[in-house]
Amino acid sequence: MKKNKEPITCLTAYSKPIAKILDGKVDLILIGDSLGTTIYGMDNTRGVTVEMMKNHGKAVVMNSKFSMTIVDMPYKTYRNKNEALKNAREILAFTKADFIKIETDKKNVNVVKHLTKNRVKVISHIGITPQKFSDFSKIKSVGKKIKDENNLIILAKELENAGSKMIVLECINTDVSRKITSNLSIPTIGIGSSKYCDGQVLVIDDILNLNSISKKPKFIKSYTNIEKNITRAVNTFIREVKNKTYPSKKHSY
Ligand code: KIV
Repeated sequence: MKKNKEPITCLTAYSKPIAKILDGKVDLILIGDSLGTTIYGMDNTRGVTVEMMKNHGKAVVMNSKFSMTIVDMPYKTYRNKNEALKNAREILAFTKADFIKIETDKKNVNVVKHLTKNRVKVISHIGITPQKFSDFSKIKSVGKKIKDENNLIILAKELENAGSKMIVLECINTDVSRKITSNLSIPTIGIGSSKYCDGQVLVIDDILNLNSISKKPKFIKSYTNIEKNITRAVNTFIREVKNKTYPSKKHSY
């Protein structure tokens, strides 16, 4: 797809119903550790566990026959080569996902190399790596300074050489993501990193406007307003129960 310049699509899913809707439509389904904030109500992704990723991963993969699947490795589960391989194998064996994704910087390129040598299919994630932030409001774009630009371009190449199958570029400045993408033969998947990436990923809750947060990052685009629809349905249910129009004869045994 990269060679044919056909953009790759990726959305997150954490459950069976969403997996069934996405399957065969998007190219990639990501069981992201964003589930910490979207599902579990955490302030950041640091409390996400291997167990959570395994359970949500399995529910999604079991319902994804056509799209390829990626499971995130949670915070502090890949601090060294042995820990990373043990946890990656455990997640992949349980979920049967195609890839694991890890948040990478120059300190853990060796971990990626070790995983790929051991036949684990790895997607690297660079730029803004959310596990580094306890407060998401502090997240800004990266790559504007020439030093950061060079470091990101070098890091992406090192991760390709380490055997990564793709690289997620998060909140990286347009020029830099374009340069990284043209410098690599593996695909880049952008989130807040311009149209010059080989594909795009977003969190499903954001495109559906399921969790209306007051200050949204600039890259988020909501294509519908599910929160409004759910609120309308809930209000109608409450009204009908209160005025005894539900359950009607039709809904009674
Ligand atoms: O956890 C996640 O959902 C992610 C994407 C937003 C890239 O890592």
